[in-house]
Amino acid sequence: MRISGIDAITYGVEDVELSRRFFADWGLKEVSPGNFETLNGCEVKIRHKNDAALPPAMEAGSTLREVVWASDVAMPAMTDPNGLALSFRPSRKRTIHPPGVPANAWGHYPRVDRPGPVYARAEPVEVGHLVLFTDRLDEMERFYVQRLGFLVSDRYPDRGVFLRCAPEGGHHDLFVLQTPASKPGVNHVAFAVRDLYEVFGGGLHISRCGWTTEIGPGRHPISSAFFWYVKCPAGGLAEYYADEDYVTPAWQPRELTPSPENFAEWAITGGIDGTTRRQASGPALEAGTAGRAVRE
Ligand SMILES: [Fe+2]
Repeated sequence: MRISGIDAITYGVEDVELSRRFFADWGLKEVSPGNFETLNGCEVKIRHKNDAALPPAMEAGSTLREVVWASDVAMPAMTDPNGLALSFRPSRKRTIHPPGVPANAWGHYPRVDRPGPVYARAEPVEVGHLVLFTDRLDEMERFYVQRLGFLVSDRYPDRGVFLRCAPEGGHHDLFVLQTPASKPGVNHVAFAVRDLYEVFGGGLHISRCGWTTEIGPGRHPISSAFFWYVKCPAGGLAEYYADEDYVTPAWQPRELTPSPENFAEWAITGGIDGTTRRQASGPALEAGTAGRAVRE
């Protein structure tokens, strides 16, 4: 069996119209009402939480209801120990052209005679990873490793495990987190964008649309990615990220301590916006909405 990534996700939500507006602003393409696609064809489906066709929910309210993993081997649908429905299919995702634009580094100049882009908004490439709360961390790790063949990339002993579905690829496709109070649920769904420039362009745009930044921009020491997290009406948070570590079987899993510094080397709570950037053309802030742009 070879699982290569996330091919589709389905949310069950309390307010379908609000979630549709969010994902349109987020930069996904709505191919039919409630059915969105990322740039490479990864599907994001929005359904009402009481839709009888949905599998049972792992938590109350708006949340993830199903994940479809891309697999080159037929597998029966199943439910993970968290109560999240999983199914499997050959990938329907496409290769993206053009790919992202690399950043120049001292002594290494992959971008020659070519400026770095400025994005007016993000168009996410795909759903890159999920982060789930759990109250059964060991069981979740065993299920994903032994049943589905995932690998451990890094670990917070007794607190969390970063898992990747393929030996070579992005640092994690799934992070499972257990806190003393946690119950099964979604923490966030992360959307890979093409390059680090798009993290900033996307975050600024979603702020201008009036959605609330939880934290970002910022940078994870674990995975190295630049991030921007926004409150998502479909459940948990949505994340833009880029410049994630790419690992191979040579990667040695680390044991790390949960801490604010391991979550973020640096980050801005509430985000940045037109006013924060001190740009005359940025949208004005309403009194009492510091850190959040008004809807344009
Ligand atoms: Fe993430």
